[in-house]
Amino acid sequence: MTEQLYTVIGGSGFVGRYVVQALAEAGHRVRVAVRHPNQALFLKPLGAVGQVLPVAANVTDEGSIARAVEGADGVVNLVGILHGGTKQFEALQVEGAERVARLAKAAGAQRFVQMSAIGADAERDDVDYARTKGEGEEAVKAAFPQATILRPSIVFGPEDAFLNRFADLARKSPFMPLICGNTRFQPIYVVDVADATFAALTTDTYQGQTYWLGGPKVYSFKDLLTYIMDEAMQKRPFLPIPAGIAEIQGAVMSLLPNPPLTRGQVKMLRNDNVVPEGALGIDAFGITPTPVESIAPSYLVRHRPHGRFSKKDAV
Ligand SMILES: NC(=O)c1ccc[n+]([C@@H]2O[C@H](COP(=O)([O-])OP(=O)(O)OC[C@H]3O[C@@H](n4cnc5c(N)ncnc54)[C@H](OP(=O)(O)O)[C@@H]3O)[C@@H](O)[C@H]2O)c1
Repeated sequence: MTEQLYTVIGGSGFVGRYVVQALAEAGHRVRVAVRHPNQALFLKPLGAVGQVLPVAANVTDEGSIARAVEGADGVVNLVGILHGGTKQFEALQVEGAERVARLAKAAGAQRFVQMSAIGADAERDDVDYARTKGEGEEAVKAAFPQATILRPSIVFGPEDAFLNRFADLARKSPFMPLICGNTRFQPIYVVDVADATFAALTTDTYQGQTYWLGGPKVYSFKDLLTYIMDEAMQKRPFLPIPAGIAEIQGAVMSLLPNPPLTRGQVKMLRNDNVVPEGALGIDAFGITPTPVESIAPSYLVRHRPHGRFSKKDAV
């Protein structure tokens, strides 16, 4: 394969690091464009000297993005937020996405990948996250018509913010809050998401399409929480919380700097987060999705209480 240059906007985040790894392993040069490039330095050893280069860029800043995408064969935009004000959602997930796609096109990039999410819906005016993800997709397609849109369900892996968060909650709380326990999720492994992103960035096959990325199994929220508690060895009784009450709690918590739950997230919990029947999915990439059960124990298990495996068990 000929060596090419790819820009990964948001490459130091949870998903980004695996995308950078896939590109570097294939021998490509990778520009990791983030606000804090010093926090992306850990990615440099993924490639030879100079192959993985963190650069300072902010999707709200035209000049920094123009520099980040200059000369790139392909660009992926991974910037997204889960909480913030309406203006912040719009600045990052709509205007930011449009800016990156437009400047990538102007710079002559051949391919563009926009990381969206299941639930993205430009018509949904009650949840900023969902609406701006949907509007971001439309803005990207207008600026870069051949862009590939990826819509994952919740993404799991060692650094995830979902399984780890609930394992942590089980450790700290005497009960497990349960909101919308019947809502269905289809967790997808971060490496599978990265592999799909790699394919969409490096070949023309996936251009101009939207793909829904889900894992091999659909879980109810309650079953997923039960599984997480089992693996983390932190069995807690469920405390069902009506969604209406949780929305009020979320509205109050939204005032915190890093809220554990927001009103919008509770609203999103009312809807299934699964790949719709007949949609283009992970199989279109020739990827057999990895089950949660074959990966999650390796990182949730590290929280097992000391003493379970005593030194005398060691061989
Ligand atoms: N994780 C999931 O379960 C999940 C599920 C569905 C969809 N997604 C989508 O997948 C994408 C990646 O998610 P993630 O979990 O990897 O996110 P993440 O861990 O929060 O990473 C975000 C990355 O974006 C960078 N960033 C943030 N604001 C920026 C800005 N204004 N300009 C430039 N870079 C910025 C961050 O680095 P700096 O802070 O240094 O800038 C970081 O590298 C997001 O769009 C998310 O909505 C994720």
